[in-house]
Amino acid sequence: MKRNLISVLLIGTLFCSCSSRTSWQSYSGDKEIERKVDSVLSLMTLEEKIGQMTQFTSFGDITGPQVSEDIEPYLRKGLVGSIFNAVTTDGIRKLQDMALSESRLKIPVLFGYDVVHGFKTIFPMPLAESCSWDLERIEKSASIAAAETAAAGIKWTFAPMVDIARDPRWGRVMEGAGEDPYLGSRIAEARVRGFQGNSWQALKSPDKILACAKHFVAYGAAEAGRDYNIADVSERTLRDLYFPPFQAAHKAGVGTFMTAFNEISGVPCTASQYLFTDILRDEWNFNGFVVTDYTAINELVPHGVARDEKQAGELAAHAGVDMDMTGSVYLKHLKSSVEEGKVPVAVIDNAVRRILEMKFLLGLFDDPYAGLDPEREKNTILKPEFLQAAREMAARSAVLLKNENDLLPITKDKKCTIALIGPMVKNKESMNGEWAGQGNRQQSVSLFEGVTEKYERSNVRFLYAPGCDLTTDNEQGFAEALAVARQADIVLFAGGEDFNWSGEAACRTDIKLPGAQQALLKQLKKTGKPIVLILFNGRPLDLSWEDGNVNAILEAWYPGTMGGHAVADIIAGDYNPSGRLTLSFPRNVGQIPVYYNHKNTGRPASDDTYSDYRSFYLDEKNAPLYPFGYGLSYTTFEIGNMQLDKTEIKKGEPLAVTAEIRNTGDRDGEQVVQLYVRDIVGSVSRPVKELKRFAKIFLKKGEKQTIRFELDSDDLAFHDIDMRYTSEPGEFKIWIADSSDDERLEKTFRLIE
Ligand code: GLC
Repeated sequence: MKRNLISVLLIGTLFCSCSSRTSWQSYSGDKEIERKVDSVLSLMTLEEKIGQMTQFTSFGDITGPQVSEDIEPYLRKGLVGSIFNAVTTDGIRKLQDMALSESRLKIPVLFGYDVVHGFKTIFPMPLAESCSWDLERIEKSASIAAAETAAAGIKWTFAPMVDIARDPRWGRVMEGAGEDPYLGSRIAEARVRGFQGNSWQALKSPDKILACAKHFVAYGAAEAGRDYNIADVSERTLRDLYFPPFQAAHKAGVGTFMTAFNEISGVPCTASQYLFTDILRDEWNFNGFVVTDYTAINELVPHGVARDEKQAGELAAHAGVDMDMTGSVYLKHLKSSVEEGKVPVAVIDNAVRRILEMKFLLGLFDDPYAGLDPEREKNTILKPEFLQAAREMAARSAVLLKNENDLLPITKDKKCTIALIGPMVKNKESMNGEWAGQGNRQQSVSLFEGVTEKYERSNVRFLYAPGCDLTTDNEQGFAEALAVARQADIVLFAGGEDFNWSGEAACRTDIKLPGAQQALLKQLKKTGKPIVLILFNGRPLDLSWEDGNVNAILEAWYPGTMGGHAVADIIAGDYNPSGRLTLSFPRNVGQIPVYYNHKNTGRPASDDTYSDYRSFYLDEKNAPLYPFGYGLSYTTFEIGNMQLDKTEIKKGEPLAVTAEIRNTGDRDGEQVVQLYVRDIVGSVSRPVKELKRFAKIFLKKGEKQTIRFELDSDDLAFHDIDMRYTSEPGEFKIWIADSSDDERLEKTFRLIE
């Protein structure tokens, strides 16, 4: 391949790639890379620098004869730092050729894309994966996604989305890891490692890509659960709830951050010096670069903090935002802002330095095509082992919410007729959810395909009727569905949400099953047949009626390419469900936000005993329908004999906590053992409990294991009355539990000075 000018210029200083296998933390600007960056920077005009700060969007069909006219002229002049949504190898090659062949400095373009839970092999949506509590598999999903993405020539993903969320009206809860900062942080680390690998050097690997922690910050706190709405949160809530997963992603080495659309207390994130300079650079010492969300700079005008786009660009540049995603604000206005002295050149240079550094770390100056090869892509995507990993992850992400009289599993040796009813029985396109990358929706395995293959040579017979659709109140299919149900022994109803009903700009004020689904279930209930409800959806739904009226409920989420097989594995008992909720299911939308790590208030109320003038509702319990950490198994587990190795610890001194877990049922299974702590008295009020450790363990039937956790005062730290991050002496409660509402095993200990 023709070496481009930059490589020739640098050939004299070319060293082996960056320092030895260092962990990400040690990267504070590798000296050799800085030298290369400075040598490139010194050659650049102001226009070329601003070009690096500009990202265009392309579209999948870029391989067509004409590159969209708005990109081409800039590409040929070397004024495009990054392009996203170019997703085919020949399209990417065409665009990179343009950038390298005619531009003066031949700086490679960085190609990015939303690879949120898979590129071609689609894994369960991120919230579903979080319910597996399986960090190894979560990391593996991300690494498979990275391998497929990199094979297509794309070296940057806009993921992981690490926004804590507590409001299922907000459609983007499906992209995150639920309501808890500790679990969300561990999952953020796993996803960053999966995408990027464990060292700067790994970024150059042909199967690793740059990750992006998004959306910084508190996007999930959108008022009223309405996307893009304001978030009004205190600094303490920012620091103790919304920051931790971003800090974890940073410590795991994430190379980029993305700004959130929302404002916080009046300041849009994309214009926030507090976030992108004071916190990210000065307090956390983040060395990567910051990209805006889609046209987020332009949106500073409707936010009402900029009179025009030029001023918006100045605000964003001063805030420390390095790259403008598709808004072209930097491209159109930043040069004059610099010439007018409103934005110092140093601000531009810093931004360009960070962007060039990542391009060097990704090896793009050595190989701008990042190993682009249609043959390699064809041999990489949809490998059988990738599909098997997706199937296993989907099975482990599903949560069994109810199973009256062990109605499930329906084993293959049974002789029965199952009525498959509902809009998600044969649906394929919704299985992948909204952020489905380049997954072929028609290739996803439907539930119908999964169960008919599963029970092929068995005595289980299937009848089928859709009954209704996913969204409308049309009841014309009810009669057929009821007739089918009456001929069967069991009804298996598959419903949920169309993939457009969860995700970005997909918020709902009523979170019941959409359309006529619940009405049909009510009719089916009258047939007297036992009903298994299988849900394919992106958010916690209001299942109060279903919980009181159907016999079994399996939350399968948007399970991805292999969803139908995974759910069939569970229904037939070939896999014993092990998922545990990471986001509370409210009893109804009026309870929202309802979450486990809530405060006690000055007038706490108990759902069990009435008392007036307490913090409760007249018409509903306080507790959610299904709490954080909850999920059933086909077997049963007992946790007992909880022990602490000491009843008081000094700062820095470890506390060991042990307990025995026994599989008391008649089949093997996995339990998620959870450790919660409560700080009884603090200089500020503290949550009634906080997850501090967990472990997912496999136990054969009858098997017993001892689990041991260790924690110390660092695990008890929070932002105190003076906003110092510290732990405070005093009494603590501690539980080993199988759900956040399980308080059967409780101990106390003291932290002393
Ligand atoms: C969207 C999303 C963001 C995504 C970006 C590019 O608006 O908010 O998560 O990465 O635009 O598609």
